[in-house]
Amino acid sequence: MAGLHAFSEFHFAAREVLLVNRNAFAATHSLILNQEIQAFFGSCLRVIGMDGITTKRSWSVCLLLLVAFGCNRQPTAKFSPAEELNDLPQQHQEQIQTMLTNMFGTPANPTLRLPKDPEQADADSDEESADESANSTKAKSNFEDLLSVDELARLRHGAQVYSKRCSGCHGAAGDGNGQVAEYLDPKPRDYRKGIFKFTSTPYGIKPARHDLVRIIRRGAKGTSMPAFRWMSDQDMEAVIDFVIYVSVRGQTEETMAIIAEDFDADEPIDVYEFVDAANNARSSWQDAESQVVLPVSAEPANDMDSVLAGAEIFRSKGCVQCHGLDAKGQTEWLSKEFLASLESMPADQQIKINYDAWNHPAPAADITARLLHGGRRPIDIYRRIYTGINGTPMPAFGDAFAESPDTIWNLVHYVLHIIEGGDPKVGLSEEGSDSESNTELNKAA
Ligand code: HEC
Ligand code: HEC
Repeated sequence: MAGLHAFSEFHFAAREVLLVNRNAFAATHSLILNQEIQAFFGSCLRVIGMDGITTKRSWSVCLLLLVAFGCNRQPTAKFSPAEELNDLPQQHQEQIQTMLTNMFGTPANPTLRLPKDPEQADADSDEESADESANSTKAKSNFEDLLSVDELARLRHGAQVYSKRCSGCHGAAGDGNGQVAEYLDPKPRDYRKGIFKFTSTPYGIKPARHDLVRIIRRGAKGTSMPAFRWMSDQDMEAVIDFVIYVSVRGQTEETMAIIAEDFDADEPIDVYEFVDAANNARSSWQDAESQVVLPVSAEPANDMDSVLAGAEIFRSKGCVQCHGLDAKGQTEWLSKEFLASLESMPADQQIKINYDAWNHPAPAADITARLLHGGRRPIDIYRRIYTGINGTPMPAFGDAFAESPDTIWNLVHYVLHIIEGGDPKVGLSEEGSDSESNTELNKAA
């Protein structure tokens, strides 16, 4: 039983921590005072509840979990090589790993340096001293720091905040594999792909910084991602630097895995490729800031006409195929049985429909659960529909509705109607016929 396994594992972890750290309980109490933890308890209970352990024990497991969790420090954490590297010749794998360590440091000791132009580096080292023969010194002088002293201090502070508050779920190296990740659904974000779901920017574009502030301050409702409401602005900015840093490193690694294929196995990869890959990854983040999506039209009145218009669109424009007429999201179209029946469908397309970019199952949201992960302000819902949800099967509808901009607002009002407890089948006749035939009937009458 996964729950019992979790219990003994965390019990063990917690005991160990207690032995080592007498302050663990004090730490737990101060954590409990913090409301962030409520969300964490919620997810923890859900996890353990799945295996039917009594509530009383669930709470004690949660406490133990918190002890283990609150004290999680992994100063020796390393970045594990991306899967994409596995198929490369050994020499290239090693070169990429060494280069990435020189450029980005380690999770506990992050940095940002780029290899220098080799001619420039030669000139510099000649100048420095003729008898400097230690390889490490030479290697170091071939890199140029991109961060100022202050920026580096902030990134390192971010690494500490991250290690304390986030690594238990998101993993010490930001790969989504924290100690408790196995028991969470949806899974904590693996930052290495640089894909983020709840952005104010167009599909495929990085989040703006304020999107990250928003999700960290408010959490993702209906998931275990807690709301860090009382985190100081200083910690917030620093931890965001760290999240972006892990993404830039991950994107650089992914690009290098592709570029390495152009080089013969016995030929070292050109350092310029590393510089380009890192610079492109960095600018993809900088560019996002100027691409925030603003609504095409002003929000019309949120009345029953708009809700009904939205319901009509929901049923006629494809939403229903994934979310279902009852908006519960578990439709035939996405079920395993249905996919199995589509023998002609290539395997890679099946993954795109049922799985997200991190290869976790990604069923369409159950809107009637009334917990929108990306926020419930009208503008949040507007952006989810207009730009889709990165890395998941939820498509962007901005272009599809370009001719009739109010359509998206009508859909927003329909979604709001549902999350406020309204009937998803509003406008359908009692027999369950669709609104079109309903109109036909009305016309005939
Ligand atoms: C209890 C587990 C947990 C903790 C602790 C946690 N997260 Fe998360 N986080 C999640 C989960 C689960 C998701 C995925 C939500 C989803 O996919 O809808 C997530 C998603 C995210 C995202 C992605 C949002 C997006 O738009 O895709 C960011 C950024 C993030 N977390 C940052 C943080 C930071 C920073 C911390 C620490 C200050 C933190 N998280 C702590 C569980 C956690
Ligand atoms: C191809 C399948 C698919 C289609 C078509 C689709 N969705 Fe989704 N939708 C999803 C998936 C998958 C998610 C969950 C994404 C995630 O992991 O957070 C989702 C999530 C949502 C959410 C929840 C957002 C949040 O913040 O949690 C809303 C609202 C939504 N969709 C509305 C719509 C509307 C309106 C349409 C039609 C205009 C539509 N969807 C079409 C698959 C689809």
